[in-house]
Amino acid sequence: MALPWWQTGVVYQIYPRSFQDSDDDGVGDLAGIIGRLDHLSETLGVDALWLSPFYPSPMADFGYDVADYCDVDPLFGTLEDFDGMVEAAHARGLRVIVDWVPNHSSDQHPWFVESRSSRDNPRRDWYVWRDARSDGSPPNNWLSAFGGPAWTWDEATGQFYLHSFLAQQPDLNWRNPQVEAAMLDTLRFWLDRGVDGFRIDVAHFVGKDPEMRDNPPRTSTEGLFKPMAGYDSQVHLYDKGHPFAHDVFRKVRAVLDGYGGDRFAVGEIHESDWAKWAGYYGAASDELHMPFNFSLLYVPWDAAEIRRRVEALEAALPAGAWPNYVLGNHDEPRIATRFGPERARLAAMLLLTLRGTPTLYYGDEIAMPEVAIPRDLQNDPWALRVPDVPTRDGCRTPMQWAPGDGAGFTTAGVEPWLPFTPDLDTHNVAAQLSDQRSLLQLYRQLLRLRRSEPALHLGGFAARDDAPDGVLAYHRRAGDADFLVVLNLTDDGREATIPSAGAIELSTHLDHAGAAGARVALRPHEGMILRLTPGVGAGPAVP
Ligand code: NOJ
Repeated sequence: MALPWWQTGVVYQIYPRSFQDSDDDGVGDLAGIIGRLDHLSETLGVDALWLSPFYPSPMADFGYDVADYCDVDPLFGTLEDFDGMVEAAHARGLRVIVDWVPNHSSDQHPWFVESRSSRDNPRRDWYVWRDARSDGSPPNNWLSAFGGPAWTWDEATGQFYLHSFLAQQPDLNWRNPQVEAAMLDTLRFWLDRGVDGFRIDVAHFVGKDPEMRDNPPRTSTEGLFKPMAGYDSQVHLYDKGHPFAHDVFRKVRAVLDGYGGDRFAVGEIHESDWAKWAGYYGAASDELHMPFNFSLLYVPWDAAEIRRRVEALEAALPAGAWPNYVLGNHDEPRIATRFGPERARLAAMLLLTLRGTPTLYYGDEIAMPEVAIPRDLQNDPWALRVPDVPTRDGCRTPMQWAPGDGAGFTTAGVEPWLPFTPDLDTHNVAAQLSDQRSLLQLYRQLLRLRRSEPALHLGGFAARDDAPDGVLAYHRRAGDADFLVVLNLTDDGREATIPSAGAIELSTHLDHAGAAGARVALRPHEGMILRLTPGVGAGPAVP
């Protein structure tokens, strides 16, 4: 049986504010995306696009504060534009995934406006309201991920409400069946409009301890994904990840399965305990199709450590579950800055040759760096509230399509909502398309090879034990096809043994291909994909 598109395909994330401006306001929009779909289908050859939120929103958290789950913010266009985008994407064979934000709405959502209007409003219980403790303090010690307590006092009605993020993002009460019904309906709204799936924002936050117990203090940094200042003072035992989330995801899955066409759900779940992480596939494969796997985002650039994490993922996967990898998104510093520009090519080869669905982040294909945004131009509410946290604005800057004023993103003379890189004139899609050895050309070739070779999009994974120090080597195999990927993660040259006769299919440096001998020389930061002819030629046994 053919595997579904979300297993064999590659997902490309678009941050709508920053992809293409079509109406000269310096902010990207849906019509702009339609005009750039060829970049996805023709230039790159990806299979699906994921759109970060485009819903009506006061933009306190750049759209992750949703004021209407079933409409489009005028900044981005209209529902008709959305329909046109889905139609245009589908006409190119591209699937469309939209962001779904179930944990919290905007405080401007009519549901919350009603809920906070009085204690006896029928929607009061749609959010999480609690009395103060006798000393006037919040009902428990839970913290907002964006700094300070997770509770805000509502003077008018004399209670606190819960917000795991900003005070403008009150948490919905998923234990109320009316909330569940209304939110599942929002899924149906977009499914009926033809979307192929959802990326579920902070998915595990919908599971909270019903007794709302205090979180215990944290005594070690083990298992932390990245530093989050004061939020790290606690183990987040009770404010997220409660098994109740599984009930919610089973219901989400049932909605998706009620539609034809392999509709898909991927959850944003930061969970360092592999067993708990794997639990989100569902005990009977009846929850999320995949929880995002972020384990390589901050991996030390070390072959042994990358291998350890890849094998840990493979070992954690429940039977039949499909892996995936993420190296960048709108919340994390750009790959080219996090790993360093000379490693961006290896990161591309790694991401596109591991076993599992890769998610690419717009702009990483041209190695857009983290752009330094002066404090007075910063927007990210998290960094503005918590000084120790780096701003997420730097990874959300407009796509650089072409040299010159506006960068092809917007009209010359229009101020983009965030600045371009200072080297825009040489660092853009057009420049990289005309350079046969650019990173963009490497992405194109990797994507083409991955698409045309079943071993690379659905084959097995086996790491080799005989790789030289600092080199990560693994096979991808399906049927008779056997590809060997060798990645030199060091600053020095290395020699890798080739276990059977083979040919270099692709080098990260894009400057040589052809027959390989029993050993292949790798330059610093070079990776190669070799096509092997199993059983031909000498070399150590394939593991
Ligand atoms: C995760 C999203 O990726 C991030 O951008 C957002 O700020 C938080 N969830 C809150 O919705």
